[in-house]
Amino acid sequence: MEQVLQQIETYKKEIDQWVIDSPENLETYRIRFLGTKGIVKGLFGEMKQIPVENKKAFGQVLNDFKQVAEAKYEQFKGLADAETAPSKGIDYTLPGNAFSLGTRHPLSLVRNRIISIYQRLGFSVAEGPEIEDDWHNFSALNMPENHPARDMQDTFYVHTNPDWVLRTHTSSVQARVMESTPLPIRIICPGRVYRNETVSARANCFFHQVEGLYVDENVSFADLKQTLYFFVKEMFGEGTKVRFRPSYFPFTEPSAEMDISCTVCGGKGCSLCKHTGWVEILGCGMVHPHLLENLGIDSKKHTGFAFGMGVERISQLKYVVNDLRLYAQNDLRFLQQFTSEV
Ligand code: PHE
Repeated sequence: MEQVLQQIETYKKEIDQWVIDSPENLETYRIRFLGTKGIVKGLFGEMKQIPVENKKAFGQVLNDFKQVAEAKYEQFKGLADAETAPSKGIDYTLPGNAFSLGTRHPLSLVRNRIISIYQRLGFSVAEGPEIEDDWHNFSALNMPENHPARDMQDTFYVHTNPDWVLRTHTSSVQARVMESTPLPIRIICPGRVYRNETVSARANCFFHQVEGLYVDENVSFADLKQTLYFFVKEMFGEGTKVRFRPSYFPFTEPSAEMDISCTVCGGKGCSLCKHTGWVEILGCGMVHPHLLENLGIDSKKHTGFAFGMGVERISQLKYVVNDLRLYAQNDLRFLQQFTSEV
């Protein structure tokens, strides 16, 4: 025991004299005195050999020694961290790393703007599934099986179930809402739709729509025109002119297509409007009575109007983007150009 106590005194002197001047040196110190095979551990191992009556006193001496060894380590550990920081390339005075903010996709910007304009007129947003059944996408909308009007929308069918399609328009959402919601109905249906088109600058196999529906008593074509006119003025500016051309859709009667004066040349004629001064932006009409009846609405008492527009098309006119494919290519050089709300 005497011997061990003397040894401890020697170690204490060694600790006292040990000059810690580098992280490596500190580590050597730690391993020698405090490591798992170090001196402190070793001395505690000696405990077994100490006679019972001396165990307590010896334990005391050992604990004191351990504290001395640890205190020196702790003291230099802090210093070493601070001193080595610059050599590790850390400069706490430098400004932090800025991370760049993303921007909204142009189609989201345009969609949000369309929604906010119609919301001000009292329309609320309705959404539905992208994989749709035949009834909601076609049959309920006055397009029974084998009706030639189905050819207007080249369709992707889900091959495991011929009753399922990738919806070709968001009119399917309108059908769902008419089926399940009490009147009056005033909704807009934004969403992605799919058509089996060859991908080119002017067409893609998916695109986005916002369709609108208003069904109530005494809804007239005049209401439709005024609603769309308000939209055009809000979206493209006060001076924009509109015109309606008679058209055909199976779900509306009468039907029309609406053009606006060209947003690029103001109507003088340019390549965007193919030198006509007008660009088409949407299809619309009065909801066909068959359709109301199909969906459980009394067509003698109620009328409605509907319209549908392509978000890509509106965005193209707003931003003059001439290749539709750019919207889906995720090229940052394109996407980073759209930084503010439209
Ligand atoms: N659903 C039509 C389409 O996708 C657009 C439309 C909606 C036309 C409502 C008239 C009325 O082509």
